[in-house]
Amino acid sequence: MSLNKVNSKTDILIIGCGCIGLSTGIVLLKTGKYNVQIWSRDLPPNTTSNKAAALWYPFLCNPPDLVGKWSAETMQYFKDHIIGDPKSGTLIKKVNEIFRREHKEDPEWRPYVQSFRRARKDELPEGYVDGFAVDDGFVMDTDMYMDYLVQTFKSLGGSIEQREVEDIREAFVHYDTVINCTGLGSRELFKDKLIYPSRGQIIVIKNSSERSIMDEEDHIAYVIPRISNTVLGGTNQEHDYNTEPTKQDTEEILKRVAMISPRFAKNRIEIQDVKVGLRPSRHEIRLENEFFEGGSKLVVHNYGHGGSGFTVSWGCALEALRVMEAGIPNLLFYKKQQQPKPQSKL
Ligand SMILES: Cc1cc2nc3c(=O)[nH]c(=O)nc-3n(C[C@H](O)[C@H](O)[C@H](O)COP(=O)(O)OP(=O)(O)OC[C@H]3O[C@@H](n4cnc5c(N)ncnc54)[C@H](O)[C@@H]3O)c2cc1C
Ligand SMILES: *[C@@H]1O[C@H](CO)[C@@H](O)[C@H](O)[C@H]1NC(C)=O
Ligand SMILES: *[C@@H]1O[C@H](CO)[C@@H](O)[C@H](O)[C@H]1NC(C)=O
Ligand SMILES: *[C@@H]1O[C@H](CO)[C@@H](O)[C@H](O)[C@H]1NC(C)=O
Repeated sequence: MSLNKVNSKTDILIIGCGCIGLSTGIVLLKTGKYNVQIWSRDLPPNTTSNKAAALWYPFLCNPPDLVGKWSAETMQYFKDHIIGDPKSGTLIKKVNEIFRREHKEDPEWRPYVQSFRRARKDELPEGYVDGFAVDDGFVMDTDMYMDYLVQTFKSLGGSIEQREVEDIREAFVHYDTVINCTGLGSRELFKDKLIYPSRGQIIVIKNSSERSIMDEEDHIAYVIPRISNTVLGGTNQEHDYNTEPTKQDTEEILKRVAMISPRFAKNRIEIQDVKVGLRPSRHEIRLENEFFEGGSKLVVHNYGHGGSGFTVSWGCALEALRVMEAGIPNLLFYKKQQQPKPQSKL
């Protein structure tokens, strides 16, 4: 262990340089107790995180109660530390989720988010009968926000090396504590067959709008206005590894978006870019300690954030710190954990 102590700080390695790895690194550095290094195969702008929309909103991510707690912590962290810094690329925006059918139940994250309310009639487009609203939601221009995370991480003393890890023992040569923020990469690196891709395609356009609006009932349709552009989405294609945009998806996204917001009909927009990312989907986020080599090596897993990586990022980073410092399995998590239900077609 003494090998890992430099200036009485403990050396920690994070694998992965997406929004999860970077947020976790920043939280660790801010304690002043750790030296943090990131190793990552891909660096921004080439991560899945860079392809996200991205909006604060719990979506395609489990378990619901912990996602609610971590989403609320993330919202608070944004308000305390990030929003207001123009370099962060973040903006407060109202978000409406809308339904074509009556939706009696509030979302499971409702108890954690004080500003949750039901949508007013005037917030519902034609054909929609019900909706949710969060007035103090926020959006991120993902490329700007990822650069901001990299700069913040480096300015706190963190270092980043482009390096793929094929075997976790490569990391153990130099580090006793490793944090696994590899997202979909965990499928190979940790042989976790419970994690699988959910393909998302988005369209970037010039125009902006005053709120984020989304329908995720049967097919996904959303409009997310950001600082420098607006994102139209989306798709959720499970087990699809194709990282290239398809014309068919573009057509279908535009058709669906026109139904929630005719202002964004095909003939009224200018497409700037079409992007695809593979969400790291799992029946639930894995955030727990795993010990190796007779207990002398610790891996803190923090992956499987599905469609909500940004939404839960700071909550999960703070949780990873708590779990790591406790040095025991995450009790909170274990208590809630049910038998894994593999959804992946192995
Ligand atoms: C179209 C789309 C829209 C989305 N919209 C939203 C949204 O509105 N709001 C929201 O909260 N979320 C959204 N998401 C989800 C969000 O993008 C993900 O949950 C998030 O990016 C996951 O972050 P991550 O850091 O775990 O993964 P990644 O960004 O994939 O980072 C993983 C990192 O690990 C590295 N890595 C993997 N394997 C290895 C290895 N063996 N060795 C070294 N490095 C390795 C990779 O190179 C990469 O740097 C969206 C996703 C998509 C695709
Ligand atoms: C991102 O990918 C592109 C295309 O493969 C490559 O040219 C570029 O160097 C990569 N950027 C980083 C920071 O790795
Ligand atoms: C991360 O966890 C997954 C799942 O257990 C595993 O396959 C992968 O090897 C782990 N990666 C690291 C770097 O520990
Ligand atoms: C989008 O921009 C185009 C060209 O600038 C403009 O003609 C159109 O009215 C705009 N649409 C919206 C929804 O703002």
